[in-house]
Amino acid sequence: MNLPLSEALKKYSRQTHDSVDALVLSMHPFASVENYSKFLQAQDIFQKTLKPIYDDLDWNYKIEGLSQLSRLKQISKDMQDLNVNPVSMVEEQPNPSGFEAIGWLYCSEGSNLGAAILCKEAQKLNLSDSYGARHLAAHEEGRMRHWRKFKEQLDGLELTSEQRQQALQGAEDAFAFFKRVIRQV
Ligand code: HEM
Repeated sequence: MNLPLSEALKKYSRQTHDSVDALVLSMHPFASVENYSKFLQAQDIFQKTLKPIYDDLDWNYKIEGLSQLSRLKQISKDMQDLNVNPVSMVEEQPNPSGFEAIGWLYCSEGSNLGAAILCKEAQKLNLSDSYGARHLAAHEEGRMRHWRKFKEQLDGLELTSEQRQQALQGAEDAFAFFKRVIRQV
């Protein structure tokens, strides 16, 4: 029996997650506002790549309220708060296709769990969910509750094995892209 999609995504990307986690921490994003600003620039690039997926009509039919979940607006406000300018990627913008989009969404929504830890760190720089660290705030219905609901929606999608493979590949690509973004900024 196949694992539910959300569990397969977790299993498949655990190692990559841990390497992203270590890479982010190695840039000491909360050591100074300057370092945090770079982290914001990375989040901005990442969320800009995801925006077309969050806005996609077909995915919005399949995943309720999807377009509301993009954190790009909050990131822009965080950047304005701290006078940080967006940067562009040197490489071409990835363009996830088909069911790869699911893996990208998994990666993006899941990153909000780790944000619970980052949020606390941000307080040390006097940042909060109303100044500079808005994009790290919990979903209004609560981080875990929202995450469970999101995973249920993923698990409710009926995918062929090829589509499932695309979703797993998408998660891998998303984590790998985030790593390249972090290295660039
Ligand atoms: C320093 C940075 C990070 C830390 C400390 C961190 C930490 C965590 C923690 C503690 C969890 C929750 C585990 C749980 O309660 O089950 C989590 C989950 C997750 N994080 Fe991160 N994270 C970081 C960065 C990221 C980034 C940059 C991404 C994506 C680009 C990401 C993607 C995810 C995903 C997809 C999950 C969900 C795993 C699952 O399926 O349960 N994380 N992270």
